[in-house]
Amino acid sequence: MTSSLTPLAPGGPDSAAGQGEGQAAVGAIPRHVAIIMDGNGRWAARRGLPRVAGHRAGAEAVRRTMQAAVDAGVEALTLYAFSSENWRRPEEEVSDLKGLMRFYLERELKTLQKEGVRLKLIGEPAAFGNELHDRLQQAVEETQGNERLTLAVALNYGSQAELVGAARALARAAAAGELDPESIDEARLASLLHTRDLPPLDLLIRTSGEVRLSNFLLWQAAYAELHFTDTLWPDFDEAAFAAAPPAAAVRRPMSEIALRSITGVLMVLTALTAEWFGGTAFAILVAAASTAIYYEWAKMVRGWGFKWQLGGFLYALLPALALLWVRERAGDPPGNQGFELVLWAFIVTWSADIGAFFVGRTFGGPKLAPTVSPNKTISGLVGGVLTATLLGGIWALHEGFHWGWLLLAPLFALTAAFGDLFESWMKRRAGVKDSGRILPGHGGVFDRLDGLVPVAILTGLAVVAGLS
Ligand code: FPP
Repeated sequence: MTSSLTPLAPGGPDSAAGQGEGQAAVGAIPRHVAIIMDGNGRWAARRGLPRVAGHRAGAEAVRRTMQAAVDAGVEALTLYAFSSENWRRPEEEVSDLKGLMRFYLERELKTLQKEGVRLKLIGEPAAFGNELHDRLQQAVEETQGNERLTLAVALNYGSQAELVGAARALARAAAAGELDPESIDEARLASLLHTRDLPPLDLLIRTSGEVRLSNFLLWQAAYAELHFTDTLWPDFDEAAFAAAPPAAAVRRPMSEIALRSITGVLMVLTALTAEWFGGTAFAILVAAASTAIYYEWAKMVRGWGFKWQLGGFLYALLPALALLWVRERAGDPPGNQGFELVLWAFIVTWSADIGAFFVGRTFGGPKLAPTVSPNKTISGLVGGVLTATLLGGIWALHEGFHWGWLLLAPLFALTAAFGDLFESWMKRRAGVKDSGRILPGHGGVFDRLDGLVPVAILTGLAVVAGLS
């Protein structure tokens, strides 16, 4: 007969049983990170939205954090999705949470497979009813061969109940004469916990400013570093994850930076080539970008009302018309510099963006709008505006533009920065990290062109006003 006390092999001495201080070397990537995802309700309340909207945005934060953990090389990520105390919440909210888990599972299963994520459940998920439980189990089975990250989702979990279960199993075995009580040690008990096949817990994060463990991984947290952040869970992202020690040592893998750079260069080359040819080639590119922006916008504002849909339509259409019109005025009358003017708009937008990135990263300092976009700094804004003024100015002088364009460069660079902030604000409100996923390493088209939208419209207006 197999005793219920037989320690599981996979964990070995290195599993939860053997964990001790300093297992994650200073500056090393944590092997196992656990998160108490708190603050969904407050996030929604601050926006005047129902609690379910907070949970929905929380599910997006789950997706982002899982990706950040995969990219960072973390081995296990354990998320407190539903505590055994959560049953006390209103029936409607419990049902919303269950629906959301079902939805998340259906939508993300492919991503779990693609990213090599193994799903594991801890707690007593059977309490969620046969249908959801069966689907969860099916996903667990389908992903069991994945090895990059284990995503352990705690459902109907309570740490004290987990410890009581382990104590009962030990007591039963001792009463049956299978176990000498004197042989019970930490390793023996840990081998009976739900986390027995996970690496030792290195880092436990709780969001939303609460400083409690709330019956989560009490045993496992014995040597873990604890990190409490005021960030509400739906706002938690890769930057917040990287800010948690020792995850602070985690750097984006080179492959991701390389992917981002290659896609960036390809996008710029495509835009420049199509712009150079003008005519149908440029029209197709602009129409495709404009359609993608509208599509991504419409998805984000679903449920926000008709005026947001209309706003998105104009937001996507106006810059497209402006760019095409400015470009095609070339040669009508002869001497009009359509190509050069559109290129000026590109130069101002891109140099504002790139200048802001490098100056902000070098000098840091006070944040520009921390609640909207935590990475942007005032020094970055100034750096972006100066870079755009310089490069836009050089181009304008080189092409012999009207001197007015020299004055417009800093002004337009400012609008590009605010276009960028506006898009970040929309994404926060919608609870998504990226507007889309079409551009590898960059997110969506709207993510990439948020600065160009105001600059394109204003360039068109400046030409209408007589500047050439
Ligand atoms: C706590 O916020 C959060 C929860 C009880 C649920 C967490 C669930 C999700 C993030 C969504 C689905 C999960 C998965 C794994 C897809 P709260 O409601 O207690 O917030 P409050 O303290 O501000 O009220």
